[in-house]
Amino acid sequence: MSGADRANKNQHFFRGAARSGVTRRLVGGLAATGLLLGLAACGGDSGGSDDGLVIGFVQVGAESAWRTANSESVRSSAGEDDRIAELKFIDGQQDQAKQLEGMRNLITQRVDAIVLAPVVETGWTEVLEEARDADIPVLLADRSVEQSDEDLYATRLGSDFVEEGRKAGAWVTEEFADADGTAVLELEGTVGSAPANDRKAGFYEVLDGEGFDYDLLDSQSGDFTAEGGKEVMEVFLQSHDPEDVDVLYAHNDEMGLGAIQAMEEAGVEPGEDVRVIIVDGSAAGFQAGADGKVDYIVECNPVFGDQLMDLAVDVVGGEDVDKYVPVEESAYGPDEFADELPNRQY
Ligand code: AHR
Repeated sequence: MSGADRANKNQHFFRGAARSGVTRRLVGGLAATGLLLGLAACGGDSGGSDDGLVIGFVQVGAESAWRTANSESVRSSAGEDDRIAELKFIDGQQDQAKQLEGMRNLITQRVDAIVLAPVVETGWTEVLEEARDADIPVLLADRSVEQSDEDLYATRLGSDFVEEGRKAGAWVTEEFADADGTAVLELEGTVGSAPANDRKAGFYEVLDGEGFDYDLLDSQSGDFTAEGGKEVMEVFLQSHDPEDVDVLYAHNDEMGLGAIQAMEEAGVEPGEDVRVIIVDGSAAGFQAGADGKVDYIVECNPVFGDQLMDLAVDVVGGEDVDKYVPVEESAYGPDEFADELPNRQY
């Protein structure tokens, strides 16, 4: 199918969704009564309002400060937006099966649109087809799904994770430009997730692309949690003499902060003995930077609730939207940590 055909097909699909929105809400409100128990378990309640859109939000979980800030941003933007009657929030608890169940609940209730933040990239085709067959547009927030599912969602709003990885890689190649064989440890995010896959890809794209001389000592997943980061770092420190390690690349703040704790407990000075890169930019991450324990912070911005509401309204209204809408973000070095700390929103 050509790009133009695909665009036409999407437009048709989402216009159909817009037309049937109000009817769907009225019918859906009745149909949903039988599902209230299931939704209550997810923290939602019944839809069926005529005052605006009913949006379902299938969130990844609550694994990090980033995630908590993201949930808060989406919830408060929906709450303050007169165009949104209700946001049905589903906590996927970092479990794809729970997210799939949540999606299907929302489809049965015939919400106006579903926002999905997919915990991993694969395994979504069937449920996305079910949403399409029910005329319910799906928007991706934050993470992406595999490319072959591209026709099954309207748009994705989120970070360019590959670019984030590139920024981390560029810092390493500049900082260690004169070194021979820079020794790298990597703490990866959730296995199979878009940010883990892409942050890795972008990082090595730069290192390998520049012919940088490095040695990847170890790379393992800490599942984007502080506990995971700490546990994996403890194992790393058992198998690698910290004196032989130059830099730790942690795919998010939480894992980096957990690893810093593990280093300190082992008598290793983070930021000094082992240089540390983290991704996100929480206040706790910036504080660690201001304390000299982190060397470089690649920002990943979770505060996109307002943008997401605009997109959802446009998609349900049949407007043309870009397939990918990036979130603005930056990167920070030691000179900026203290000044930037008060600006951190989470
Ligand atoms: O998908 C975004 C990532 O998910 C954030 O970097 C991380 O903190 C979160 O768990």
